Amino acid sequence: MWDTLLIDCHAATMAKTGERFGAIRDAAIGIDRGRLAFVGASASVKTGAREIHSLKGAWVTPGLIDCHTHAVFAGNRAQEWAMRLQGASYEEIAKAGGGILSTVKATRAASLEALVASTASRLLKMAEHGVTTVEIKSGYGLDLENETKMLVAAERAGKIANIHVSRSFLGAHALPPEFAHDRKAYLDRLCAEDIPKIAQQRLADSVDAFCETIAFTKDECRRVFEAARSHGLPVRLHAEQRSDQGGAQLAAEHGALSADHLEHLSEEGIAALARAGTVAVLLPAAYYFLRDTNPPPIAALRKAGVPIAIASDCNPGTSPMLSLTDVLNMGCTLFRLTPEEALQGVTRHAAKALGLEKEVGTLEAGKVADLAVWDIGDPAELAYWIGAHLMIERYVSGQLVRNAWRAE
Ligand code: NIG
Ligand code: FE
Repeated sequence: MWDTLLIDCHAATMAKTGERFGAIRDAAIGIDRGRLAFVGASASVKTGAREIHSLKGAWVTPGLIDCHTHAVFAGNRAQEWAMRLQGASYEEIAKAGGGILSTVKATRAASLEALVASTASRLLKMAEHGVTTVEIKSGYGLDLENETKMLVAAERAGKIANIHVSRSFLGAHALPPEFAHDRKAYLDRLCAEDIPKIAQQRLADSVDAFCETIAFTKDECRRVFEAARSHGLPVRLHAEQRSDQGGAQLAAEHGALSADHLEHLSEEGIAALARAGTVAVLLPAAYYFLRDTNPPPIAALRKAGVPIAIASDCNPGTSPMLSLTDVLNMGCTLFRLTPEEALQGVTRHAAKALGLEKEVGTLEAGKVADLAVWDIGDPAELAYWIGAHLMIERYVSGQLVRNAWRAE
């Protein structure tokens, strides 16, 4: 006897079955103790369940995974965006003390409770578009107290929104104002004090850094990676977003889970990612919002067999994006991903980018029962519609969570 049996549905399992979207038509899904007990043709179900739920012909996908966000922050940067529309560049604004540092100021001033509330409200909106797992970075605190506050807020907000949260420590996001004239002292503290404490208190699942002219050099990021790995934390990198810094090669050398952005990724960078099995995480909403014109080298990534994920990059400066299904559309329209590649990018490949591929990302027996149920006639529609609310309900660790939009 299982806990739950879902019937009258079609499953886009996203498993590598040779079928488009790993699809099983006329499927049934058995859930037991929070895990998938069965995913297959309804005709072959042999076990009963305490509860049977008809999905009335809906499609089921793995719960969507947003594997790159900065969803904890205070305030917003609508003013800065308006300045950029008048011609100011992201780099000019950052150099003038705006950009990331203006969000640092607001986030330092916010209480833990206020951050939990604003983050939970954003995560609830993401959940309405099918998200069941989200990666959230720190990086707007830039000192141990405020980075810790952000990471605790991320965890609490996830509980409120019924979303699993994977946390990344991004102390190397920007140089904090109090260290503006002593980069080395900040990196010394980050590597010798902050990373060890974050690791010891299990506040993060990985360590990230921003490798860019306006942030940290490749050598500085290397120091951060060495400290992270010596404390048992895997790494990921904001790489080649605005310029080619060789960040992808650095990420690959350290067995990074992911290298993210990659608009200016070189041939050598692609080869390094392919060798290391590092996931390329593309962020089409940031590309869109920055009015970028240099897309990442999709065809070459594809050819090299690098797994491609896509994510919202939800943050106040470059991507105020709360709909991962709209990101699917942008991935196809702006980067020419196929709808199937886009959906892989927020399921199987996103799971790999978080090191969670054994737990989530496909509908396969044994994995966590995180599902999204959709009002669509074909999985490609998830990437096709824009601004739509296609999700009917989610199951998170086997528990039904109804969509507020559709609650009867
Ligand atoms: O992923 N690139 C660095 N970090 C963010 C932007 C953060 C911000 O501008 O506040 C990004 O785009
Ligand atoms: Fe980012």
